[in-house]
Parts: sequence; C-alpha cells; structure tokens
Amino acid sequence: MVAMELTAMSKTHPIKYKSGGVLAAAKTIIEEEIATKLDISTISFCCIADFGCSTGNNSFPAMHTIIEAVKRKYESSDLKTPDFYVWFNDVVSNDFNTLFRSLPLDRSYKVAAVAGDFHSHLLPPSSIHFAYSSWALQWLTEVPKPAVGLHSPAWKGGKRLYGVKREEVYEAYLGQFERDLEAFLKCRAVEMVKGGIMALLIPALPAYWDPQTEFTVASVIELLRSSLVDMAKEGKLSETKLDAFNFPYYIPTPEEVWAILQKSNSFSIERMEILKSGTLLTVDGHVACFRAVHQNMLTHEFGAETIDESFDMLKKKLQTSPVYANPSNDKTLVVVAILKLNNV
Ligand SMILES: C[S@@+](CC[C@H](N)C(=O)[O-])C[C@H]1O[C@@H](n2cnc3c(N)ncnc32)[C@H](O)[C@@H]1O
Repeated sequence: MVAMELTAMSKTHPIKYKSGGVLAAAKTIIEEEIATKLDISTISFCCIADFGCSTGNNSFPAMHTIIEAVKRKYESSDLKTPDFYVWFNDVVSNDFNTLFRSLPLDRSYKVAAVAGDFHSHLLPPSSIHFAYSSWALQWLTEVPKPAVGLHSPAWKGGKRLYGVKREEVYEAYLGQFERDLEAFLKCRAVEMVKGGIMALLIPALPAYWDPQTEFTVASVIELLRSSLVDMAKEGKLSETKLDAFNFPYYIPTPEEVWAILQKSNSFSIERMEILKSGTLLTVDGHVACFRAVHQNMLTHEFGAETIDESFDMLKKKLQTSPVYANPSNDKTLVVVAILKLNNV
C-alpha cells in the first residue's frame, strides 16, 4: 500500500522510495548531492550547522559524512581544501556539556554551540554552506489551540480520526507544523549562502497502516498517552493537568512535507526520498528511546514521581501487544529532503 502510493507520487515529482538502513541510505544521498550540487569554487572556509543536534551521538557521524564528502570534492579539484566549522544548535536547556565532552578527538573541524530555537534567526547572514537537521522538525513551537483539552493529536494514519473535533485537531496540528517549518526555512534562507545545500531528515507516517499487524511511532505515542490516562484514572497524576496536556509534535506524511517544501520561494527541492525508518527497536528499545525524549517534558508536566510508573506501563502495553514483538512491523518512515538555496 505504502510503496504503491509513493511510486505513484514519484511520477509527478522527484520522490523515490528506498528500502534498507536509513542512515546508510541518507549518507549515500548526502554524499551524492554534495558531489553533484555543492558549488565549491567560491568557498574559502566551510560552515556546517546541525539544527537540533541533541548531545551529538547521531550528529557527529553526520557531520563527518558531510565534511568528508566536501573534502573529496576539493581533492578532485585544484582548489585548496577549506577549514571546516560546525555549529551545533539545540534548545538552551540542551546538555551541550555532554556534547562537548564527547566530541570525536580526531575531528577535522572547529566547533561552536548555538543555543536557541531554530525557528528564529541564530547565525549571521550568508554564513552556512551546509545546513542539516535530523529528527527535530517534528517538534512544534506550541500545541495548537483546538487540541488543548482533547489530549489526542488525532493521528491520521490508523483509525484515530473520527468526528468533527478530531478532524479539527488534525488540521490544527498540520497547520502548526506548516507554520513552523516555513519559519525554519525563512530563517535558514537568510543564514545560508546562495547555492548552499540543506539536508532534512523528518520522521513521517505512511498514509495507512494496519494496527492489527503493524505499528508506527504514532502508535507508540498513543500507548504512552494511554499510560498517562490510566495513571490519571488511578489518581496517580492530575487529571486536570492531563486534560490540558498534549504532545507538542506532529509526525507528517511525506506528501504533507512535500506540499510545504515546494511552496518555498527561497529553496528548490533537489531531491526527496522516503525511507523506512528501520530503527528495529525491541520493546525495551522503544521504552528507552521514548523515555529519553519525553522524560523532561513529562517530569515538568506531572512530576518526577510519575515517570518510572508511566514508562513501566508503556512497557507492559508494548509487551501485551504481539505487534511490537517484531521490529520489522514498524512502518514509520523518514523523509530525506535535499534543498538548495536559490541564487536570486
Ligand atoms: C529526537 S532529537 C534528535 C537528535 C539528533 N538530531 C538525531 O538525529 O538523533 C530532537 C532534538 O531537536 C531539538 N529541538 C526540538 N525543537 C527545537 C527547536 N525549536 N530549536 C532547537 N532545537 C530543537 C530537541 O531539543 C532535541 O535535542
């Protein structure tokens, strides 16, 4: 079903479907695009920025891939290889100390941290040659108003959409995602050099998956939400607070990402590929991953004393459903979009 839809899409625009490891596939895409699209003739130094780098685990290999690809391009030319600078961006509360402590010792670049919201201007005009962002743009600047009090993001995949309210919530989330992504692109359009390249890796949902036999990241989010609801019913966390709480992110479909990106006047879509997320997480892996991402937010909302039990409940729910026993039932997608800043 998914493969068919995506194949059909690729007839009208350059979206391709690829199976296999997402990181290896994204690496190949980035290397090919740097080799063919990045103009190095005018570069005397090369600045790369990672927006939403977290503590660096996944960022360091990505920065290495980008820099090695640019270096190869210089080595096959008569030009002198430039010095490389990497700006690591994340929110002000990010643990940049851990990032700096774990920087690869053999790196060939200078580094700086840029703390702040990537929906605002963060770097000097015309300073970035390559912008990168992975698994970060799904975070919203705010929960859209119609969702407040409904504590369900009304996922479109699966069977979550029913009734006017749900449709309204879905539209509100999509609208917020669109405004935020547009704000991100507007800021990068100022900060990037003309002809600069941007690689965006955005988690995405297929238009349909069968909840009886398959799951996505949205299904795991639903289970976490239902764990919180169970806790509230048992009086272990505040029902009032839960009513006012919603997850501040939106997982789009590839088609939604395409529709937003292609509206940009500043960037052209050079390439867009849809990969199977391929995280192959076990139940324990899902719990660890979700805990790492949500612990601070849920501690802030409901108190530190609720955290262990919330994630124990999530684990039980995942273990109870046979769907999660097989990691290959995960139908989550990752959109890899390569954009180029127009010269005009
Ligand atoms: C799931 S982590 C992804 C980390 C890493 N890029 C990766 O691929 O593994 C998302 C990161 O994006 C950051 N983030 C979310 N919204 C952000 C914003 N508005 N500005 C800067 N960073 C943001 C979060 O703080 C978090 O560290």
